[in-house]
Amino acid sequence: MNDPNGLVWHKGEYHLFFQHNPCGVQWGHMSWGHAVSKDLLNWKELPVAIAEDDDGAIFSGSAVSIGDEIVAIYTRHTETHQSQCIARSLDNGRSFVKFDHNPVLDENKKDFRDPKVFQYEDHWIMCAVQPWDHQVSFYKSLDLITWQHLSNFGPAAAIGGVWECPDLFPLTIDGQQVWVLLVSLNPGGLYGSGTQYFIGDFDGATFTPKYSTDEPRWLDYGRDNYAGVTFNNEPNGKRILIGWMANWEHVKEHPETSWTNAMTIPRELGLAKYADEIVVTQQPMCSLTYEIEMPMPNSGVIGLQGFVKVGYNADKKVIFVDQFEAPYEIDGGELHLKVVVDQSSVELFTGDGIRAITVATFPPVGTSRDLASFSQ
Ligand code: FRU
Repeated sequence: MNDPNGLVWHKGEYHLFFQHNPCGVQWGHMSWGHAVSKDLLNWKELPVAIAEDDDGAIFSGSAVSIGDEIVAIYTRHTETHQSQCIARSLDNGRSFVKFDHNPVLDENKKDFRDPKVFQYEDHWIMCAVQPWDHQVSFYKSLDLITWQHLSNFGPAAAIGGVWECPDLFPLTIDGQQVWVLLVSLNPGGLYGSGTQYFIGDFDGATFTPKYSTDEPRWLDYGRDNYAGVTFNNEPNGKRILIGWMANWEHVKEHPETSWTNAMTIPRELGLAKYADEIVVTQQPMCSLTYEIEMPMPNSGVIGLQGFVKVGYNADKKVIFVDQFEAPYEIDGGELHLKVVVDQSSVELFTGDGIRAITVATFPPVGTSRDLASFSQ
């Protein structure tokens, strides 16, 4: 599997559709796999929801909940052409029927993909990428069928690879609404595939960044958090992100059994002020494996999983998971780190959520996940 798709809450269930090859453990025959959860932690995998067919593969996209229906908006992919299509489900996402008059949005391009649709006032907004032009294009629709082009954003900040999997949503800080635009790119991240974000304003037609876009702002400083997008229709008003915990540059290193690859832990997104800017924060939505307080400004190292090291380097002013480092400075006091460790992953967060480092790791079977050592 790869990207999370169609993240939506609908009638008591969180739906996680995902890029999935039903025929093997390598990328191919792209279809939408499906899993559901009531609490975002315990997931039940269901049969493939939207399968590749003679019209093409089913690439990434989103889903909306409308009354009893889930409508999926995905990219139809062939060797020569990508366009946006819809399919509807009347049985809570268990099966989908493709719209008879697909595609609903076709710019006659070889590459044009990853539609994220969300409700805005009384209509729908779609953002999708023109990958090689490093642009996010915005469209508007009243019925999900007829789409009107509004504007383009980009190129901006990191453009060292194709732009993919955009998302646009509002968050609030100090009573002020701010819009966040997520753009994944591959390669051109810190370690191959990566996700950058822009803080700005969206007036219903145009996204305007608030800060200089000379330098990218990274969502994650690890290697393995790509194509992350957020849930539509979240019932508690939270903005929750799930990313693919891998990287196109290293994906072949992932062991294969009857399955391969995983998602990040769900993260609640927020905003904070840091180094004179508004930044996106991430809080893991699960009980933590470890929570560590370290008096500043000392360095500290924690050995995990036998060989992964997590900590803070006071000389470099970075938190780290092995060689993956994120710049982080606070004025004295305690440094608070949150760590989520699973069989094949380490996700490190600063307590305020300002920094995250996500790394897929493959310790030998049976390696302890215990805190092996701690030194300051
Ligand atoms: C991102 C991506 C998307 C595309 C999908 C295909 O990882 O390349 O742009 O829709 O994967 O599987």
